[in-house]
Amino acid sequence: MECHSGEPEASGPIEGSGFEQEADLTQRPDYGDEIAIELRSSVGAPVEVTHNFQVDFVWKSTSFDRMQSALKTFAVDETSVSGYIYHKLLGHEVEDVVIKCQLPKRFTAQGLPDLNHSQVYAVKTVLQRPLSLIQGPPGTGKTVTSATIVYHLARQGNGPVLVCAPSNIAVDQLTEKIHQTGLKVVRLCAKSREAIDSPVSFLALHNQIRNMDSMPELQKLQQLKDETGELSSADEKRYRALKRTAERELLMNADVICCTCVGAGDPRLAKMQFRSILIDESTQATEPECMVPVVLGAKQLILVGDHCQLGPVVMCKKAAKAGLSQSLFERLVVLGIRPIRLQVQYRMHPALSAFPSNIFYEGSLQNGVTAGVTVEMLGEACMSLAKLYQDRPCLVGTREFL
Ligand SMILES: Nc1ncnc2c1ncn2[C@@H]1O[C@H](COP(=O)(O)OP(=O)(O)OP(=O)(O)O)[C@@H](O)[C@H]1O
Ligand SMILES: [Mg+2]
Repeated sequence: MECHSGEPEASGPIEGSGFEQEADLTQRPDYGDEIAIELRSSVGAPVEVTHNFQVDFVWKSTSFDRMQSALKTFAVDETSVSGYIYHKLLGHEVEDVVIKCQLPKRFTAQGLPDLNHSQVYAVKTVLQRPLSLIQGPPGTGKTVTSATIVYHLARQGNGPVLVCAPSNIAVDQLTEKIHQTGLKVVRLCAKSREAIDSPVSFLALHNQIRNMDSMPELQKLQQLKDETGELSSADEKRYRALKRTAERELLMNADVICCTCVGAGDPRLAKMQFRSILIDESTQATEPECMVPVVLGAKQLILVGDHCQLGPVVMCKKAAKAGLSQSLFERLVVLGIRPIRLQVQYRMHPALSAFPSNIFYEGSLQNGVTAGVTVEMLGEACMSLAKLYQDRPCLVGTREFL
């Protein structure tokens, strides 16, 4: 069985007592590796059958169809990206462009940590460029910086900002941080993942619809559907129409829409255009995957990641050899676009960060964290030192511990 993040893993006909139907396979929250088979309709389902049935797995090509469609759109649709981005992605010579915008007085966004020097530089530079790469070693605040950039872009009032990452976990982390800034965020999930809980479930489109006060008829039909499991065909039709209207309303009025890269190919976004698009962890996505959000109208594109870390995982050797294991970010670096680098890391013990700093980042990685010593431990150490050096004038340097 082939799986892809953000997509229905598989579906196939269920047979039992002459009953056959297409079903979706979903992973259930809190059930470990257990999976559930969800019938599209329960009419006539032999619910008493517990054995002697057959499930055929059918591989779904949705993710790959979306990638291929994005590449075609990029090739033939002039409105899919700006001329500048089109030529830059193809490696053509283009004159630098500066976006005229009102820079914020304060770069740190509300609800997020005070930015360090390299993060402020990144935010300031990105806001003025149509295409930017931000590179950050682990824990240097790529996601915090991304959320801050999105905050400022959203406040420019050019319509919703599209925010993506290849994995659902990365999307959720970024969604959470953007929500902390007070922006109106909608997290768009694949239908097959709607039952899966996450710290940002309350921001998911399907959950926001359930809590919408402005559509009482939809709420009533939803309640009926939840209680009875099924609606009459007329009610179902009405329910679906109302749901589509509600989805549109929430999406159009959002400051930010977050989804996986492949999720950006969801039909619910098909008629929308996004001027500003940010992709976190873009170095873990294949180039066609990255292009799914990009072709939704990018005029300002920000790719965040670290090409010194693991690239996209491509299982097919032929595809990897053909170039798919090189991310769009990395290819642009090879083409000569210099990434803006974040330089202070907040996650590793300084003793650990020294190695990657020297080997991968020309020794440029600084530490924004202590070496894991608590104030009490430091206090005790100072007391011990003070005893050792009683009555002797001395300076105790703690810098190498910090
Ligand atoms: N300027 C800052 N001041 C204080 N803490 C910060 C700052 N920037 C980031 N952090 C903290 O550092 C940690 C790592 O930040 P973040 O997750 O944004 O980094 P990252 O580069 O995206 O990490 P990863 O490599 O795992 O994707 C978080 O706990 C975050 O709150
Ligand atoms: Mg991150």
